[in-house]
Amino acid sequence: MYRTHHCGQLRASDVGATAKLAGWVHMHRNLGGVVFIDLRDREGLTQLVFRPEENLPVTELARTLRQEDVIQVSGRVAARIESNPNLPTGGIELVAGEMRILNRAGVLPFPVDGDPANEDLRLSYRYFDLRRPQLSRNLRIRHRITKATRDYLDAQGFVEIETPILSKSTPEGARDFLVPSRITPGTFYALPQAPQQYKQLLMVGGIEKYFQIAKCFRDEDLRADRQPEFTQIDIEASFVVPEEIFTLVEGMLAAIFRASRGVEISTPFPRLTYHEAMEQFGTDKPDRRFAMHLVDLAGVFAGSSFKMFRGALDSSGAVKAINARQFAGITTGQLEDLTAMAKHYGAKGLAFIKVEDGEWKSPITKFFTAEEKAALTAKLQIEEGDLILFAADQWEIACEVLGRLRLRVAELQRLTENSDTLDFLWVTEFPLMEFDTAGNKWNAVHHPFTRPKAEDVSLIEAGEFGKARAEAYDVVLNGVEIGGGSIRIHEPELQAKMFAALGVSEKDQQAMFGHILRAFRLGAPPHGGIAMGLDRLVMLICGEQSIREVMAFPKNNRGIDLMSQSPSEVNPQQLRELRVELIVDRD
Ligand code: AMO
Repeated sequence: MYRTHHCGQLRASDVGATAKLAGWVHMHRNLGGVVFIDLRDREGLTQLVFRPEENLPVTELARTLRQEDVIQVSGRVAARIESNPNLPTGGIELVAGEMRILNRAGVLPFPVDGDPANEDLRLSYRYFDLRRPQLSRNLRIRHRITKATRDYLDAQGFVEIETPILSKSTPEGARDFLVPSRITPGTFYALPQAPQQYKQLLMVGGIEKYFQIAKCFRDEDLRADRQPEFTQIDIEASFVVPEEIFTLVEGMLAAIFRASRGVEISTPFPRLTYHEAMEQFGTDKPDRRFAMHLVDLAGVFAGSSFKMFRGALDSSGAVKAINARQFAGITTGQLEDLTAMAKHYGAKGLAFIKVEDGEWKSPITKFFTAEEKAALTAKLQIEEGDLILFAADQWEIACEVLGRLRLRVAELQRLTENSDTLDFLWVTEFPLMEFDTAGNKWNAVHHPFTRPKAEDVSLIEAGEFGKARAEAYDVVLNGVEIGGGSIRIHEPELQAKMFAALGVSEKDQQAMFGHILRAFRLGAPPHGGIAMGLDRLVMLICGEQSIREVMAFPKNNRGIDLMSQSPSEVNPQQLRELRVELIVDRD
């Protein structure tokens, strides 16, 4: 046996026993004659002590050790003269009798303890980076979460079923990763953006309750919470209504938080419609850990002589504002950044009021009447020290701009720092379709299988696509969309109407979705489901800022695996076999 105990195990009650440990040299201190080593394995640290008077040759060998060498040591557990209260094993040390060096480590790319700033360097040596206790902890929390998920869904009668990775393009809205087929030259598999069609076909297949911890692949621009391959907790059920999905997911999240954090979350989660979320928070994934609501000022400025506000309202737009409490001290530079941000999201400028020394400091308040000022003060509850930010524009732009500013101000004011609030929320009644001005056509907001709300089907028939709402829902935690789903269309006639609205020709319907349309004609049950972004959920539970911190081998923000240097060029012979020709110009 390599070891009798792990490095986080020995306690004062073991004093006098013999033990054998194996692990990495975490820290090495050479105090004249005596050598101290902190030995590390995934469970913790144990102090080893080598005394020349007890065993000279082994102490001499220990002197040659360097950080991250792998050793095996046996000896006697002794009480420490001065115990270390920061370590669970701090009351004892192992007095080394024998030692074997199992492997030597070369020059280290960065220290295992401490915080290596350069992420690319960390990702290049990910196998080494994983030794850092933080990452090891994250992966183990991730395991607890998937285990709790499986146990919970199993108890609810859900069956875990794998679906193909070599599959056909699914219309999730991102770009597909393609895999050329060697056996049928000129054709391609697509890596699934989600198991969407397969899980619906499983419902046609009578499985009734399906789930999968599923790998998904999307070729999109990357951010802190987006990776080209990521994992979903994918769920689908037959004969369900949204309420049942909500209860199922709330129960699942409760089980996950219990297992991973030991906390009881409060259920059921509050709900907002998409329209309410946009209206109050300027986003479909509100972070409600702080208030700073968007306040509608149409009532205040409907008759205003201030052109900018009046103009927006007269052209059926909106005038809205947020009160950034106690932020009148914002610096000029910060205000310029906020203005640039507002413009980036479509605003023409950023009007503001700073309330300082009992005065309103603002380039626009001279246009306001006394009544308008009084109404504004009441609606926004303006007090000394506050900063008011305005948006007057089309409703969508005004909401989005203030929604972004609200988040940025919260960041500048550090409103969520050190908060341990878990703000869960359902957002419901998403629009079914959105108009794509660039492509001059209607797109499905979620995907084309999403069911319109029963009362809105007539809107589709009337061609009022923009007004139809979907039977779709997202679950949001602390401003992050952690899951989304919908009730699906199961009737071929309604599905055909939807495709027609989306401008998918009969021919394309057959080519892209023939299998699903045929399936729907064989008695598809009513069904619906949801997919949770597992990586995002684990990220939030671990208190991390990026999903890369909770994935064993993530790609960097350019989609590159720096460790294995993938993607990489391939042997021309491989391309010939695939009948693929490169048209890339390389310099
Ligand atoms: P959707 O596209 O909303 O729905 O995805 C579900 C959840 O997956 C997570 N997610 C991601 N996580 C990391 N990196 C990405 N690139 C990424 N993209 C999405 C999000 C999101 O909420 N088939 C439907 C679900 C359904 O209708 O049942 C789907 O995939 O947390």
